[in-house]
Amino acid sequence: MSIAQLSADLHAAAPLVGASLLACDFANLRQEIRQVEQAGVRILHLDVMDGHFVPNISFGLPIVEAVRRTSDLPLDVHLMICEPGCYLKQFRSAGADLITIHVEAVPDPRPVLEEIRSLGAGAGITLNPPTPAADVEACLDLCDLVLVMSVMPGFGGQEFDPAAVDKLCRLRAMAGPDVLLSVDGGISLETVGPCAAAGADLFVAGTALFSQDNYGRFVDEMTGLAKSFTDARV
Ligand code: DX5
Ligand code: ZN
Repeated sequence: MSIAQLSADLHAAAPLVGASLLACDFANLRQEIRQVEQAGVRILHLDVMDGHFVPNISFGLPIVEAVRRTSDLPLDVHLMICEPGCYLKQFRSAGADLITIHVEAVPDPRPVLEEIRSLGAGAGITLNPPTPAADVEACLDLCDLVLVMSVMPGFGGQEFDPAAVDKLCRLRAMAGPDVLLSVDGGISLETVGPCAAAGADLFVAGTALFSQDNYGRFVDEMTGLAKSFTDARV
């Protein structure tokens, strides 16, 4: 599928809950993916951590490949790694549909974003809570997705930083309506509303989703709240 088609499909389906697999039961990966698919999740978020860019190690290419063999959902790969430009081809070959890099991890995001697009994937930029929105302004024309981190990256289960709401508003205005605006970290039934009102389209949830007994009810409630706050946007 082309990047344009994928972007159009995701926009049409917004607001969307993305499942952050970091919080799933990896001993039952296939079953967890089936359950989130049946719950109505339309995109899977994969958190790759290298122990350098962030002080934690999660998983890498073999898990992305395994998820690709298990699901037809778009794979939104969030690279929390140093020198992401060295691994783009591998993550694309492993099945990534969207590849997001951190602005803090590269001297200039533009060539890296261009290469992601040249590989046929959607290009994403993300920024840590202390990084101002202005730091990504010069590369927004090359982005299919902008991800606002609402926690310091590296760990699931952290508390949502409300400063992300203003940053979402700013980035929605700066990036325009065609970019998919995502938010990641501490997303739950309590925090989804303000993020939707601020212009987010994609709500990445890990702990709040995988701690539920009933994933379907959670996804329905999240989507309903996001829709009502999106509709109330002025
Ligand atoms: C944080 C990751 C997030 C995280 C979200 O470094 O990028 O995707 O797993 O998890 P929760 O929803 O637990 O904050
Ligand atoms: Zn993430």
